[in-house]
This record gives sequence, structure tokens and C-alpha cells, in this order.
Amino acid sequence: MKKFTSETLRETYLKFFESKGHAIIPSASLIPENDPTVLFTTAGMHPLVPYLLGEKHPAGNRLCDVQKCVRTGDIDEVGDSSHCTFFEMLGNWSLGNYFKEEMIPWSFEFLTSPEYLGIPVEDIAVTCFAGDKDCPKDEESAKLWKKCGILPENIYFLPKSGNWWGPAGTTGPCGPDTEMHIIRNHAEAAKLGAYDFDNAPKGTFLEVWNDVFMQYNKNAEGKYEPLKQRNVDTGMGLERTLCILNGKNSVYETDIFEAAIAEIEKLTGRKYGENEEVTRAFRVVLDHVRTATFMLGDTKGIVPSNTDQGYILRRIIRRAVRFGRNIGLPQGALKTVSETIIKKYETVYPELVKNSEHIFEELEKEETKFSKTLQQGIREFEKVAESLAAGGEIDGVTAFHLYDTYGFPVEITGEMAREKGLTVDVKGYEAAFAEHQAKSRAGSEQKFACGLADHKEETTKLHTATHLLHAALKIAFSPDVEQKGSNITEERLRFDFNAARKLTPEEVAEVERLVNEQIKLNTPVIMKEMSLEEAKQEGFTGLFESKYGQTVKTYSIGEFSKEICGGPHAECTGELGTFKIVKQENVSAGVKRIKAVLVK
Ligand code: ALA
Repeated sequence: MKKFTSETLRETYLKFFESKGHAIIPSASLIPENDPTVLFTTAGMHPLVPYLLGEKHPAGNRLCDVQKCVRTGDIDEVGDSSHCTFFEMLGNWSLGNYFKEEMIPWSFEFLTSPEYLGIPVEDIAVTCFAGDKDCPKDEESAKLWKKCGILPENIYFLPKSGNWWGPAGTTGPCGPDTEMHIIRNHAEAAKLGAYDFDNAPKGTFLEVWNDVFMQYNKNAEGKYEPLKQRNVDTGMGLERTLCILNGKNSVYETDIFEAAIAEIEKLTGRKYGENEEVTRAFRVVLDHVRTATFMLGDTKGIVPSNTDQGYILRRIIRRAVRFGRNIGLPQGALKTVSETIIKKYETVYPELVKNSEHIFEELEKEETKFSKTLQQGIREFEKVAESLAAGGEIDGVTAFHLYDTYGFPVEITGEMAREKGLTVDVKGYEAAFAEHQAKSRAGSEQKFACGLADHKEETTKLHTATHLLHAALKIAFSPDVEQKGSNITEERLRFDFNAARKLTPEEVAEVERLVNEQIKLNTPVIMKEMSLEEAKQEGFTGLFESKYGQTVKTYSIGEFSKEICGGPHAECTGELGTFKIVKQENVSAGVKRIKAVLVK
């Protein structure tokens, strides 16, 4: 097979779709702009949901990009050959434009043409939707593949569990997909019937690409109705594809990590591949430092904290420190690894270079903080572990003590426990955590011990102010106001919304008055978790209704503001100070921007 580097694969993909009339758009932020239901951008289509639902995209209706993604569901699996928390997704979209008849031949051309990936056609297997009571079998895709030249015995059919993409269990646009795989074991593949794909031994096929044909809308009654705008959404994992095309056994052995591996070898005197344990530690450091670098270097950069995205970031940095120590990675070395990673990505993601000082500073801060307590914490953990019989459970209070005093996220304690055949009482931990929080709230210091306090109080307040502003705009300007974007720094909030014109000075004054009135009332900000359906019934507004998980957090400020949102928020509006609008700007014809501050 033709060999590729990450650079040539990105370029080849984008060039191909550019030649098919697609506009190349930049990767969106890793932090979802308008979706409170997930912490990170998890797929290329994610930032495009409004356009898949019918909004006009300024770059047209044929788009392609390379999107930065983070999936953190399997953090503890990172260390094996395939799991990564960060990855890049190559993708192309039709927004109500082309459909299967164009997409499948293009996929075939890109995969097999010597000008592009040049994969031998007999090495490609595809899967199509098998059909069920809701939607018919996707004969159309199978026929198109056959017509292109895919061998009929290499066309398989799978039910919704395998060949369907869209919001799981909820409402919204969705449809059958067709997935493309490289056949790694022809002898095993030859034994399978058209419906037996899932029975193949692991490693028989390796998935490279997914074409989703969004042609249905799943409505509130669970019925699949044809979608007005039929879209195509495709996704190809860059690292995975690179690994397959170059015949590597692991994504960590692609050019992406080459320089960083050499750097870690230099720093530790150990060799990647030396033994299983060392290889695992290398991979954890590589993946986690890369993810942390991208999170910190994102245009909407986040910093380690005790909540939401910040907590995930804290967890991965601390896990990297722990595994790094196992191979003798000296303190301060995460920064050096990060430098090498930035170098590899500098032309593709210039924001990393631009924000490199901030990235290094935060990495060092977090590493130093955790390093101080790591050894002591490990000793404490060992003592606890020794006192327990095999299969024993670390109680919640102890797990909380390890977090509170030594900075061990409970997931890391859980992982260390598993390594010793023990478990952790996570429910007990949560109870101990909640009890502690209630106590510290009662005091004047709303902080955790050992410097773990969230330094983002200002942004938290501004976040609450954003909800108040949103609600006030609905009253003083237009009931149709919807959030189109939001960005918060420690100094100010920025709120984009649909409007044909800017606010008049009178309207500005009225919005400020309404918000400040709410602040004076010192209303508690109440968070409740509930299903998306319940939230909608109770009148909570979501920004747009992409459904990436059924349970959502809702925040209400009396009856004034009710929003679905990931938080965090101030506890009471009285904490906010005085709200002031400092600027209005034009974003586009139908979108205006307000910048506002809180004055102490
Ligand atoms: N959105 C599809 C995926 O992530 C393409 O697989």
C-alpha cells in the first residue's frame, strides 16, 4: 500500500474534496460552542449540527475539514495500541446537496485510485444497513458499491447497532451509514456470510471510513420521518487510517509521535517497546500530553480545575505525571514533550504556537502541584492497599482523603486499586465529597485543601451573567433571541445572538437594568439533572437540540432564566457585582454581538 505521513494524508484528503467542489473549512474549537450536553467536540459533524439541521453555512453546502476531537470515555484504556483521547477526524459534508449516488463513488475513488490512497479493491470490505421495522435495507448503497467494483462477497449488512449513525435514543437527524474496512485477514473474511460481519475474529477487518446518510428525523414518538434536507456526514480517523495504510500495529507508531517518543527516550533513558509496561507508560504520556496541549492551546483554552472540562484536563495531566514517573520522566518534562508535539503540529494548528507559553505554564503549574503530593499519596495508598485483602474495597472517605490531601482524582485511585485487584467505593467517595463541599460552603473559604481551588471564579460569574443577559434580551429586545455563540474570558463575556440590528441605547439600558435587578434579588442558581425531554417540558431552553446524551444539567435562576447548560455557575446572583454592556458588534447580517463585564 502507498505510504503516507500525517501531513500528506491530511493534504490528500482535503485536495480530493476540494477537487469535488468542497470548501475547506478550519477545525472548530475543541470546546463545543453551543452544545451544553457534551464537554468536548467528539466528531467532525459536531460543530456543524446547526447546518445539518438547515441553517445556511457561509462557505456553502459542500464542506470538508480536519477536525480536532476529544473523546474521554475510555481514558483508562489509553496505553493499549489503539486508544487515544485526542484524535483528528477527516470529514466531508453535503448540506442538502449531494447524496449516496455521488458520495459512494467518491469514497471508492479516494480509497482505490493510485492518485489518492491506492488501496487494492480486493482489500476493501464495506458494511451497509440491513434494514428493520423502522427503515428499509440500504440496497441503494450496496448497489452503488457493487457498481464501483467492490467484490460482492465483501459487502456485508449490519443492523442499527452497526450501521446507523445519529443521536442514540433521542430525537433528531439520523440515518443509515456505510462503513469501509481494510481486510487484514482474507481467510477469515472468506468464511463469513453477508450478515456475519460481527462474527469475524478481532483484527480481520480494520475500519477506515464512515459515510453517514442523514435522511431521517427521529421524532418525539420514536418514528422515523424523512428529513427535508438530506445530508452526508463522513468521518475518517486520521491516526487510525495512517496506522493502517503504513502497516503499523499501533497509532503510537505513526509519524505523529515519532519525535515525541525520541524525546521521552532521551529524557528517561528508556526505550519505547522495551517491555509492555514501559510501552504503556510511554503511550499514556504521549496521548495525555498531546490532549492537554490541544486543550490548553485551544482558542477557547481551558485550564485545569475541579469541574467539567477543567477536571478532565486535570485528570489527564495527573495521569501523565503518574505514568511518567514510572519510567523515570523527570519533573518538568511534560513541558518538553509538549514542545515536541507542538513542533509536529505547528503548521496545521498555529494556535498551539501562539498559545505555547500559556500551555507550558499551565502544564508546569499542574505538574508541580501534583508532584508535591504524588510520592506521599502513593505511600498512603500503599498503606491502605496493604491493609486490605485481595478483592477488597477502598472506602469512600479514604478515596476522598487521597483526593483532598494528595490531589488524586478518584479515577486515578480507581486505576491504582485495579492494578492491585482492589476496588473503590465510588458512591461513598461522592458522598464524602458532597459532605466536604457543604462544609466548605458554610465557611467563608469556598476552596478545597492543597491548592486545588478553581481559579476561574470570575468566569463562573460571567457565565451566570450570560444566562441573565440572554433572558433579559428576550424581554427587552425580542422574544425570539437565541444564543448563537458565547465566549468568556476572566475579564468579560461575549454573547452572539440573532438580530437584524443592534440594540438602541434605551434597550441597552433596559437590559442592564433587568440583569442588575436579578443580581440585587440575590436569587440562588439551582442546578438539576434531568432527561432532555423533562427539561424541555419544564421550559428549559437548549441552544440547539443536538442530543449527545439523555441526561442534561439544567440551571434555573428563579423563573427569570431556565437553561440547559453544562455549568459551572455562581451559587447566587448576588455574587456577580454590577453588570455592564461595554460593546456591541456586527458578526454577520443576522447576528449581533454584545460584550459585557461585571464591575465589583
Ligand atoms: N459522524 C460520523 C462518525 O463520527 C461520520 O463516525
